[in-house]
Amino acid sequence: MTEYDPLLTTAWDELEKAVIFYRGEPVGTVAARDPQIDALNYDQCFTRDFAVSAAAFLMRGRTDIVRNFLTTLVELQSRDKHLDCFRPGQGLMPASFGVKKQGPAEVLVPDFGEHAIARVAPVDSGLWWLILLRAYTRVLRDVSLAREAEFQHAIRLVLELCLTPRFDMYPTMLVPDGGYMIDRRMGVYGYPFDIQALLFAALSAARELLAEGDPLVDAVTERLGHLTYHLRRYYWLDFQRLNEIYRFRVEEYGSEMVNTFNIYPDSIPDWVMPWVPSEGGYFVGNLGPGRMDFRYFAQGNLLALLTSLASDEQAAAIMDLMEKRWEDLVGSMPLKLCFPALADRDWQTVTGADPKNSPWSYHNGGNWPFLLWLLAGGAIKAGCQELAHRALDIAASRITAQHWPEYYDGRDGRFIGKEARSFQTWSIAGFIAAHEMLAQPQHVELFSYEENPTVVACSLRVADEMAHAR
Ligand code: GLC
Repeated sequence: MTEYDPLLTTAWDELEKAVIFYRGEPVGTVAARDPQIDALNYDQCFTRDFAVSAAAFLMRGRTDIVRNFLTTLVELQSRDKHLDCFRPGQGLMPASFGVKKQGPAEVLVPDFGEHAIARVAPVDSGLWWLILLRAYTRVLRDVSLAREAEFQHAIRLVLELCLTPRFDMYPTMLVPDGGYMIDRRMGVYGYPFDIQALLFAALSAARELLAEGDPLVDAVTERLGHLTYHLRRYYWLDFQRLNEIYRFRVEEYGSEMVNTFNIYPDSIPDWVMPWVPSEGGYFVGNLGPGRMDFRYFAQGNLLALLTSLASDEQAAAIMDLMEKRWEDLVGSMPLKLCFPALADRDWQTVTGADPKNSPWSYHNGGNWPFLLWLLAGGAIKAGCQELAHRALDIAASRITAQHWPEYYDGRDGRFIGKEARSFQTWSIAGFIAAHEMLAQPQHVELFSYEENPTVVACSLRVADEMAHAR
């Protein structure tokens, strides 16, 4: 018996109540069960939200629901190639699905974004599906489900969607705004780090899942190497790098350039200089021509720890930052989704004056308990469990009494979010999964990846080529 047992019993109870059944089988979990607020689409199973439920279920050996979910997504994946852009592109997996009664029968109704607020399509669904499929095969120590022809085909379709060359020449994936957990306008279009870290995780999963000899394995390995180089080098920010950027020369042309993306030092926001500690660092939020978004986003940085996208030094530095900026990044409820909040004119232009994303609320600097599981995993991987225990204690002190809110507001996350739902499933599952991992750290292996020698060699080769080009 541990001090958390009563809390965990309640949490499991709530998670069970969230399960959705289809033709008698468990296939997913609803997003929330708030009796006070109109459900909208929160009574559906969201792919990204279910990833957290799945983590909890898998750690308890509850593989059936995860298998059913994985198979359901293969069935729902968009298969047709067509030029009609009003329909989901080939390979896309739904943001969410619901089960609807049709007379005596039940049907699955997917939403690829066509019903969602602002019609945002999910960039992350296929990526989470790959990550979960790999976690599922890890629990069973058996890859046979992933090797079935239907699954191999589904994997290839997701990869084609991600690896297809577009109009740019970066290894990162070019995406529209609001294509993932942050599904509203927040300036996370272009090359947001959160999605690049997810892509890295998903490609790492795909490497293990593709059948031996599949020509895509080499393509995936090469892309992982290029991503490693690009993200570790250009997205990384610590005191030394900030000082370099502060002294950048601009308008450089040709192969000698140092300021590769032509970042103007004047674009460094006021908050950054005092905020970046002398020790510690993080991957910045976004990068593109003339644009460095210096905001810190939790999901990408934590995934970078879990997947070994961060080098050992970078992993230690991210943990250092978390420790030194604890009040900002954890505060009264783990975890700040993005720091700092956009305010005033920035809030108007970047969010489109979105009242739900007002400063220090919701995606714009709100605190989201579901992120606890990624913190636990990342901290264990980086050898800093203590930090995750501290965060779990903070959540445990009030999250059940406050009925598992979706998010918290305020600079230090002290207030229950303005429009937060209660009994939000991934808040519950995130707590359970974090606890399970801390209690039995070997569970981290389901979602973590070791640095791969072939990928590292590829990344070093790119670094070498770049150095010689100068
Ligand atoms: C909101 C969140 C999104 C989540 C959904 C269901 O739309 O922004 O990330 O998947 O709610 O919880």
